[in-house]
Amino acid sequence: KPLTVPEPEPEPEVDDGKKKVTILFGTQTGTAEGFAKALAEEAKARYEKTTFKVIDLDDYAADDEEYEEKLKKETLAFFFLATYGDGEPTDNAARFYKWFMEGKERGAWLKNLQYGVFGLGNRQYEHFNKIAKVVDENIAKQGGKRLVPVGLGDDDQCIEDDFAAWRELVWPELDQLLRDEDDSTVATPYTAAVLEYRVVFHDRTNVSLMDKSLNKSNGHAVYDAQHPRRANVAVRRELHTPASDRSCTHLEFEISGTGLVYETGDHVGVYCENLIETVEEAERLLGLSPDTYFSIHTDKEDGTPLSGRSLPPPFPPCTLRTALTRYADLLSSPKKSALLALAAYSSDPSEADRLRHLASPAGKDEYAQWVVASQRSLLEVIAEFPSTKPPLGVFFAAVAPRLQPRYYSISSSPRMTPSRIHVTCALVYEKTPTGRIHKGLCSTWMKNAVPLEESHDCSWAPIFVRQSNFKLPADTKVPVIMIGPGTGLAPFRGFLQERLALKEAGAELGPAILFFGCRNRKMDYIYEDELNNFVETGALSELIVAFSREGATKEYVQHKMVEKASDIWKMISQGGYLYVCGDAKGMARDVHRTLHTIVQEQVCSFILFFVARIVEYNTYVIIVIIVLL
Ligand code: 2AM
Repeated sequence: KPLTVPEPEPEPEVDDGKKKVTILFGTQTGTAEGFAKALAEEAKARYEKTTFKVIDLDDYAADDEEYEEKLKKETLAFFFLATYGDGEPTDNAARFYKWFMEGKERGAWLKNLQYGVFGLGNRQYEHFNKIAKVVDENIAKQGGKRLVPVGLGDDDQCIEDDFAAWRELVWPELDQLLRDEDDSTVATPYTAAVLEYRVVFHDRTNVSLMDKSLNKSNGHAVYDAQHPRRANVAVRRELHTPASDRSCTHLEFEISGTGLVYETGDHVGVYCENLIETVEEAERLLGLSPDTYFSIHTDKEDGTPLSGRSLPPPFPPCTLRTALTRYADLLSSPKKSALLALAAYSSDPSEADRLRHLASPAGKDEYAQWVVASQRSLLEVIAEFPSTKPPLGVFFAAVAPRLQPRYYSISSSPRMTPSRIHVTCALVYEKTPTGRIHKGLCSTWMKNAVPLEESHDCSWAPIFVRQSNFKLPADTKVPVIMIGPGTGLAPFRGFLQERLALKEAGAELGPAILFFGCRNRKMDYIYEDELNNFVETGALSELIVAFSREGATKEYVQHKMVEKASDIWKMISQGGYLYVCGDAKGMARDVHRTLHTIVQEQVCSFILFFVARIVEYNTYVIIVIIVLL
């Protein structure tokens, strides 16, 4: 059974004569949802005579017809849409996006709709904010009236600032639409509404009497981020040699009998727990006992919602130790909204002022430097403001974001290992600018995991599979070029397992080359034997390895690509697929640039070759003519 979080009850539609604004979100890590709620909270304070509803795109409609039916009735809507991976929508927006983009021609059916779209993306990626841009354009094409230009939030910089700037464009438009002549509401400068959960402290003996809804079945047939499945660690081994000063773990989750299934190229989402040292520090800063047993609620004691809409509790009743271990992101840098929430609970006014300043437009540079560039964790920030003691309801609602699953490219193929999901994970262990040693949550857990082959009391984690479109060509004869230094090799190990299995099943394979890069053959050449075996068995036609720290100069995968330029060009011109996996900021960009150069040079030499042939031919003709004359 999946570990469940109960579904929210559908809200009854009441026509109270108020104007209605619908705010829809497609979120992966909760940021889009947070922005959608922040917009609604501020809007509620500004326009008291209007109802604002915040809805998850997946919950908005049960099927395509209902999407159409409901959207047709909307007159004012905002969309918060994150773009994920290779220009894909988030899981909870995927159904809407597919329907909206691939559906039938509907003409100007959205002509009653006035709308705004805010996108959440990262400029480092090629398809920056693709989903928001596409949805924005298409609503306009289908008759919608755009109120504000599409907001392009960039997570690489400060996405909260992008949101704040876009929001400022929204208010004048809403003022015109929603502010009645007799509306007494005056636009006041926004000071973030501090969301708060209602906290109930429990005597542990009464635990069984608590919220029965938490045991309600969720009705979901599939496992996803909200419904992960517990999976045991079957195998764990270190991939680097002892000579390496870094670490990379090969881990296998046992999935037989769990109902989890995957395809080659998919991702696995892993929920990890905070380290005990981190949790103890949080308990100290909050000044509460780890045994405090509590539950949090989004409704008042009489059952009416605390803020507009009744939501399920974000996690089941548990001790503070458990809540901090499993549900709170304690090590990311705090968002500006978290600083404002903390400021409301600083007993020292100078601390409150400084927190507010950091969150204000005037403190933008300081926030960028002191919080973001210094990688100050939430706990580090709280520690710097000792008079600040947020109550539990505020801490979990507005200060500490939910601990998110970590995603890994699955490094195996179900054709080879149907009952196991393999992960290849480099250990994150680094000193931050403040001197804190940052230990990657999941990579540290994986490194220390106890596998079933060593103990029956083995490590486990709630996991789920996230489909991807990083897939081998359907036609096995199509050439394949793979570029994956370091742990970028992970999905290609899956690809090669798949090709080997296909070959063994009698398929005819096209050529495949792999560019792998590491520092030193004797330290971090991961899966060396397996890669050589792929070459021997014919799953891989050629293995090209760049060792960056063996010679006097650095050799990277892109340097090796230049050496193989004509082979790469030949494979691309035959319709080959080229895949890159790994560090998006550095390596992927450099590889992209190299690829451009290769293509330019190959096309140029192709043209030169023809020009030379034509010149040669003409010279020949001229000689013949002279001879004839
Ligand atoms: P380096 O650590 O010696 O700089 C896997 O991490 C491999 O990728 C390492 O050999 C690493 O080299 C290399 N690498 C680092 N930056 C890179 C870049 N911009 N392009 C290609 N490879 C890179």
